[in-house]
Amino acid sequence: MITNTELEYKGDQYPSAVLEVKQEADSIFFSTGNNVILKVTVLRDSLLRFRYTTKGYFSNDFSYAIDKTQSHGYNFLELTEGTDVYQIKTNKVVCMIRKADLRVAIFDLNGNIILEDESGFHWEENYHFGGNIVKMSKISHEGESYYGMGDKASHSNLKGKRVENWAMDQYAFHKDQEPLYKVVPFYIGLHNKKAYGIFFDNTFRTCFDFAHERRNITSFWAEGGEMNYYFIYGPDMADVVTTYTHLTGKPEMPPMWTLGYHQCKWSYYPESKVKEITSKFRELRIPCDGIYLDIDYMEGFRCFTWNKEYFPDPKRMVAELAEDGFKTVVIIDPGIKIDPNYWVYKEALEKDYFCKRADGPYMKGKVWPGECNFPDYTNPEVREWWAGLFKELIADIGVKGVWNDMNEPAVMEVPGKTFPMDVRHDYDGNPCSHRKAHNIYGTQMARATYEGVKRFAYPKRPFIITRSAYSGAQRYTSSWTGDNVASWEHLWIANIQMQRMSISGMGFTGSDIGGFAEQPSGELYARWIQLGVFHPFCRTHSSGDHGEQEPWSFDAEVIDITRKFVELRYKLLPYLYTMFWDYVNDGVPMLKPLVYFDQEDIQTHYRTDEFLFGNQILVCPILEPNAQGRRMYLPRGNWYNYWTNEWICGGKELWVSTAYHEIPIFIKEGAIIPNYPIQQYVGEKKFEEISLEVYYKEGKEKSTLYEDAQDGYDYNKGRYSHSTFSFRGKEKEVAILQHKEGKFVTDYNKYRVRFYGLPFEIGKVQIDNEEVNLKDVLVGKNELLVDKDFTELHIAAKGLKK
Ligand code: GLC
Repeated sequence: MITNTELEYKGDQYPSAVLEVKQEADSIFFSTGNNVILKVTVLRDSLLRFRYTTKGYFSNDFSYAIDKTQSHGYNFLELTEGTDVYQIKTNKVVCMIRKADLRVAIFDLNGNIILEDESGFHWEENYHFGGNIVKMSKISHEGESYYGMGDKASHSNLKGKRVENWAMDQYAFHKDQEPLYKVVPFYIGLHNKKAYGIFFDNTFRTCFDFAHERRNITSFWAEGGEMNYYFIYGPDMADVVTTYTHLTGKPEMPPMWTLGYHQCKWSYYPESKVKEITSKFRELRIPCDGIYLDIDYMEGFRCFTWNKEYFPDPKRMVAELAEDGFKTVVIIDPGIKIDPNYWVYKEALEKDYFCKRADGPYMKGKVWPGECNFPDYTNPEVREWWAGLFKELIADIGVKGVWNDMNEPAVMEVPGKTFPMDVRHDYDGNPCSHRKAHNIYGTQMARATYEGVKRFAYPKRPFIITRSAYSGAQRYTSSWTGDNVASWEHLWIANIQMQRMSISGMGFTGSDIGGFAEQPSGELYARWIQLGVFHPFCRTHSSGDHGEQEPWSFDAEVIDITRKFVELRYKLLPYLYTMFWDYVNDGVPMLKPLVYFDQEDIQTHYRTDEFLFGNQILVCPILEPNAQGRRMYLPRGNWYNYWTNEWICGGKELWVSTAYHEIPIFIKEGAIIPNYPIQQYVGEKKFEEISLEVYYKEGKEKSTLYEDAQDGYDYNKGRYSHSTFSFRGKEKEVAILQHKEGKFVTDYNKYRVRFYGLPFEIGKVQIDNEEVNLKDVLVGKNELLVDKDFTELHIAAKGLKK
């Protein structure tokens, strides 16, 4: 331990007064007497970057998180000088910088304070490692709330908490455990019903203190690197989240099958066991698309090998599974077994691709295969090599997805559970130690895997899943939340983690349904499936050492509940796929916590359980045993109970009774929800019609439907179909206008339009302004079967003259 007296310890240091100000295009540099420079860059009117150095010059500007393909631009930028402050004004905000000490305050155009430095930027020299511990403190206002930060297993509102960002293998983690697997140094502040965001793009170990240590201060700091953060102004939380997601990037459309149900276990082997599992799904008619091979498929846990005793002919097996609609996903870990007879090891050794200790030897650590070396994925040449390794798995054998695990990176039997800090990394030509590269290691592995799978799966789309991730990883990969536990508390955690990941730009995420460690009761499993089908990634996984965790490991009632909810997910596939399209195009989170849905309503600021699945389906899981229903908050607006179709007015807390085979689900009035017929796997059937479930409203509502070939890249060439439905309901008539874009032609050509809550009996139908014979289209009391290409569908009550 180094004590203050041994060194010339200066403690916290602060910027002195500004001596010089200089503007270069969209950036303004403020230089102080003690060599601090603050560079403010205006990327958009509501997106400002703050970068500080204490050396009098900036080091190379490099970030793995920022998506360089995204465009930015502002409309207005004006720098003015006052007596005590400099002022930067854009079309959205006014940023004041104090001449005396560089403290920053940001206001909206009406002069309301949005975010204000307390001490602001300060630092402590790091004598041990060099560089600085960089710190920032902001004022936390009365009633201010904090959200986001990735996979944190804490209450959704982080006010009063301190969290740490250091990717960590946390087997059987618990509520409030810190740190976890992922690192997303992005939070959303909400004050006076106005939202803003902070993204602290620094890959060193970072901490955020949300009014925990001191009630009126929120601070964040890093053990090295630069104070480098982005400020995003809302005032709508939606704008903060979409801007953040735009900044750090969006994924491509996933193949639709990845939105189906996945079954996993550590591990299914040999081949006959895998087939027994997949056949059972078909026999019980529980839809399923993904089947996983965990580490035991390999030869002694060597990546890119097969255990030929368990899997004598993987290519044939994968093909047979594919014939039955199953896509095979295999695990690949970063640890490469030290074995001079193993080709991957030999290649990496020859090419000098493994991470090294500071003094030269390769970094050695134990993982599943025993002693391993680890590729340095922060080296572009290594990533390229790694990508090439997937040829056999993907192109030859036909594996459809790759699951990257243990990439925090996890090391066994060492106190820190990871690499020693002196390990060297290339960091894309910015050489550094593990202190800086640790948090990004998993993302670079997933990125290299993505490049490889994409190359060899082409013209189909790749599918990657990762355990560790840093901001921006969503461009390459989906994720899951690691080794959770089969407990009711973990069901609560899973619900929060998925909502939080969604508003942290990484929406394609799921939990191990039923829990990884320990054994769920049938009831817990049922409740977890009921929530899990509403998570963007939906997979049952378990450690396998506590018994079975397939739906049929439980009683008949649980099997029925599983089937019912997985079928519901498959019906909702077009709705889910459309949610994905909104995420891919506009960065819109797929799950929306209540506070995101209605930040004006302060009742939502501390809600944790209820969330919006997409824009129009409200879900509230049952999180306790023996429940006959639950109390919940129904947000403002009017809703239909999905099970009873009862219409109900929101903005209040209420008791909702539900049977064991239900959870509270509400549909927003006016919504048009597209449904596919039930399939056992994506693409099983070509259908002649799809249904539109229409929930009557007196007034207007917009809904959308996105479709394409469900795989491949033709959608980038305009071969997609995007319909916008405008619903308009009156007392005795309803109009649905459809606006279609894109060149994709769907197989089906009919819509089965089902109306709920219609206050009149259908007496008249007009399609594109022409009256049609009722008996040609009316197929049920409130049900029409119509050609899908209408632009206007009008229905009216009997006897209503138009
Ligand atoms: C890790 C993963 C888990 C996997 C196991 C064996 O614990 O988190 O999902 O099953 O390793 O590969």
